[in-house]
Amino acid sequence: MPIPHLTTEYLLEKACAEAMLFKDEIAVLLRLEDRAEMVKLFQAADSVRKRVHGDAVHLRGIIEFSNRCARQCVYCGLRAPNPELHRYRMEPEEIIEIARQAVALGYKTVVLQSGEDIWYDPEKMCHIIREIKAMDVVITLCMGEKSHEEYRHYREAGADRYLLKHETADPALYASLHPDMQFENRIRCLEWLRELGFQVGSGNMVGIPGQTPEILAEDILLMKRLDVEMAGIGPFIPNADTPLASHPRGNLDMTLKTLATARLLMPGAMLPATTATGTLDPFGRQKALKAGANVVMPNVTPLHYRQHYQIYPDKICLGEEPGDCRDCIQAIIQSLGRTVGTDAGHSPKVISNRPQPRALVRRGSDLGGL
Ligand code: SAM
Ligand code: SF4
Ligand code: FES
Repeated sequence: MPIPHLTTEYLLEKACAEAMLFKDEIAVLLRLEDRAEMVKLFQAADSVRKRVHGDAVHLRGIIEFSNRCARQCVYCGLRAPNPELHRYRMEPEEIIEIARQAVALGYKTVVLQSGEDIWYDPEKMCHIIREIKAMDVVITLCMGEKSHEEYRHYREAGADRYLLKHETADPALYASLHPDMQFENRIRCLEWLRELGFQVGSGNMVGIPGQTPEILAEDILLMKRLDVEMAGIGPFIPNADTPLASHPRGNLDMTLKTLATARLLMPGAMLPATTATGTLDPFGRQKALKAGANVVMPNVTPLHYRQHYQIYPDKICLGEEPGDCRDCIQAIIQSLGRTVGTDAGHSPKVISNRPQPRALVRRGSDLGGL
């Protein structure tokens, strides 16, 4: 039985006016089941997106450069103990060449994503980052937990953003999903990234075992406290070669409700319509773009590698060349009456108040004018 004053209208009005709700209030929105009420939530998020970001959808070309991983996250197909996966690792020059092709396709941001693979030491990574940065493109890294020193090297080499999802804000649930990682360390890494002047991205999965609407509410509140520039919110999709093989997949409505509520509470954040949402539902990304999302991350990994980056099964775009995905996504965006972003697509909340590492400030970083 909902608490009488917590009507959808009251909560949406409050969230739109204050960009804040209490945990229990968020949980009420996440528990909405009536379709008309859910649509009100999605429309409120869509109007905040339009007011703060306009109609541009920003594209990030993602290069999945290694599927080797030392970790054991129980939900992920790349986990070290999975013997079924054919492993690959790209040479630095190959990654640089693929980034060049992504830039030629018009991408203004290149995302470098991998398992936690220490073969890419700071020397290799900084070389890759410097070469790609010279193409006048924004670089996002997504390669897991590293030391403060390693993050500093990446930043000084020119990386702009770092995506490290907290996955779940509930420490006990986090521990059960990550036998070899600690929640405190994940948060410490996110704080280091912030200190070093990265634009910080976090995020969570929706539908992991043991999750409640209250825990999802904590996810949103944690990202708000961390003041993230990006929040990747997508459904959990079970992988047969992991310990969570028989757990049901995340639910599309719950994913969209979480995304829409995140938009209300974090108006300035960049929110992707994730690939996992597109995998769950053929129109998942379109639905996410109409519920607060303003970013899409098309894959630019060459096809012969792409099939082996099997985080979860049946991932979309496994048979499409990078140029096909670029055209496809443009058509999707236009079909929604939106436009493809033509600039770097930084969060409007990213301005020069972020600390800049000395090396970058000295040489007049191109981040200075963000
Ligand atoms: N290793 C890096 C890390 O963990 O941050 C980057 C690569 S990891 C494959 C990227 C993301 O994939 C994770 O943050 C996680 O949320 C997502 N992921 C892994 N397994 C998944 C699954 N079964 N369903 C949905 N998302 C999953
Ligand atoms: Fe490795 Fe990332 Fe997958 Fe965890 S989520 S197993 S760190 S690739
Ligand atoms: Fe890859 Fe549509 S984005 S085929």
